[in-house]
Amino acid sequence: MGSVTPSTRTGVRVRVPAKINLALKVGAPRRDGYHPLATVYHAVSLYDEVEATWANPDEFTVKVDGEGADQVPLDSTNLAVRAAKLLAHHYAPRDSLGASLSIKKSIPVAGGLAGGSANGAAALLACAVLWDLDITPERLRMLAGEIGSDVPFALLGGTAVGSGRGEEVAPALARGMYHWVLAFGYHGLSTAAVYRHFDELTPGAPPPKVPADLMNALRRGDPRLLGAALNNDLQPAALELQPQLRTVLQTGLEYGALGAVVSGSGPTCAFLADGESAAVELSVSLSGEGLCRAVRRATGPVPGARLID
Ligand code: C5P
Repeated sequence: MGSVTPSTRTGVRVRVPAKINLALKVGAPRRDGYHPLATVYHAVSLYDEVEATWANPDEFTVKVDGEGADQVPLDSTNLAVRAAKLLAHHYAPRDSLGASLSIKKSIPVAGGLAGGSANGAAALLACAVLWDLDITPERLRMLAGEIGSDVPFALLGGTAVGSGRGEEVAPALARGMYHWVLAFGYHGLSTAAVYRHFDELTPGAPPPKVPADLMNALRRGDPRLLGAALNNDLQPAALELQPQLRTVLQTGLEYGALGAVVSGSGPTCAFLADGESAAVELSVSLSGEGLCRAVRRATGPVPGARLID
């Protein structure tokens, strides 16, 4: 996580990556409705930017530009606004803090890449620096967990094991830099709807465990083993809700991907390529098929939310 150092500037800018899940094992829902997870998060080089500037006390505004901007809520349900308000609530005497937030999006909305969570994490870090708060990275990560299950990982980045409902994160023993091709869907998928469908398809799911073959592949830094070990318990549900994703996954494998998986609750499909030139070829071939809205290349792992000068 970026260190929280004081800023004398009027604005603070933070860059924050998307995530994919190399593995996502899901158990039966808990009493609070959330699902216990054993997941391996992996931050990739597809970034949103969030800038925080001073605003009147207790005034919080947000504007959004870029990829899918028209689908991002601008009210208090916006995760960046929620993050700024949560931080102010804990640290501002008598509602003395406010912030004006500006988000530049490259991460698709409702894509299974934790774009909204990334914006929440970036807003937390940007406001903590803007307001010059005396807050430890650990405390920031705790607040992040209150905003959403994927938000602590967006602060941490790299490759990390997630447990609890996803909010408990610990760096994974992992080697290597991997080349990914991401295929964005034409339509988003609601995370809650995908989890609901998972429950219908998988009654009595056992407690989740991180797969040993995946952790072994990461320890060895072997892309072939990693490609074979990618897996996602939510994938069958996502494929039933958007059956065309089957063809997307199959096509990427036919074009030589080492592995293919739906990221998180989808619909983004992530393909592991055998090096940079293989990734270029794969992305050109996939784009040519017209099966997805857009295709992007990315590398991972990359660090979590960081200040930009
Ligand atoms: O934590 P977050 O607000 O990002 O989760 C969005 C939705 O995804 C939740 O409302 C819930 O329906 C579902 N979810 C879940 N179990 C998890 C994480 C998310 O059921 N571990």
